[in-house]
Amino acid sequence: MKIVKAEFLTGAVSPKQYPKQPLPEVAFIGRSNVGKSSLINSLVNRKKLVKTSATPGKTQMINFFNINDAWMLADLPGYGFARVPDSVKKHWQTLIENYLQERDTLESVVLIVDIRRKPTELDLHMKDWLQQVGLEYVVVATKADKLSQTERQQQMKKIKQAFSDDGQRTVLMYSSKNNNGRKELWSYFQNLQKK
Ligand code: GTP
Ligand code: MG
Repeated sequence: MKIVKAEFLTGAVSPKQYPKQPLPEVAFIGRSNVGKSSLINSLVNRKKLVKTSATPGKTQMINFFNINDAWMLADLPGYGFARVPDSVKKHWQTLIENYLQERDTLESVVLIVDIRRKPTELDLHMKDWLQQVGLEYVVVATKADKLSQTERQQQMKKIKQAFSDDGQRTVLMYSSKNNNGRKELWSYFQNLQKK
């Protein structure tokens, strides 16, 4: 997809602040520091549209981006970050859950995991929760550039098994460093609209 416009709209800490444009929306969720913001930058071919950081907990609001006046992308705060006070964790959790349950324009959720790691309890819990509320979602295993070809295949198999009993659920592989997987993820979005 050719990106002619990639614009930061707003950061929201409550539903009142969500943008009103009725564009189909995709949300990016996953553990803190897993690479959500980097993945958005890679997808839209902009190095610095979204702030990224080696320190977990960088994204603290829901940040909305208008892409080509065709898509809205929502970058969510990460979950599972230990070093923030419980009150903050609670706020993030409420923010994320309210958003996922109430955002009418939300078409799909990209659940991002680190290809090097076994999905955590929290990742699996999030998947169950998405299924329960009936949201469309796709699992993306990122940071693929950090593994060898053989290791990648081994990890992909494990991740697929963790997310589905029969190992058949689609898991897309991604690297925000070299943009591998970009085409496949855009195709997934485009197919959503044909449903
Ligand atoms: P929070 O907003 O804190 O939850 O983090 P995040 O999930 O948005 O992660 P972010 O995109 O800020 O990336 C975290 C770190 O991982 C940064 O140092 C990135 O440069 C690095 N990173 C992210 N994706 C990749 C990737 O595909 N390959 C490599 N090599 N590094 C990556
Ligand atoms: Mg982030």
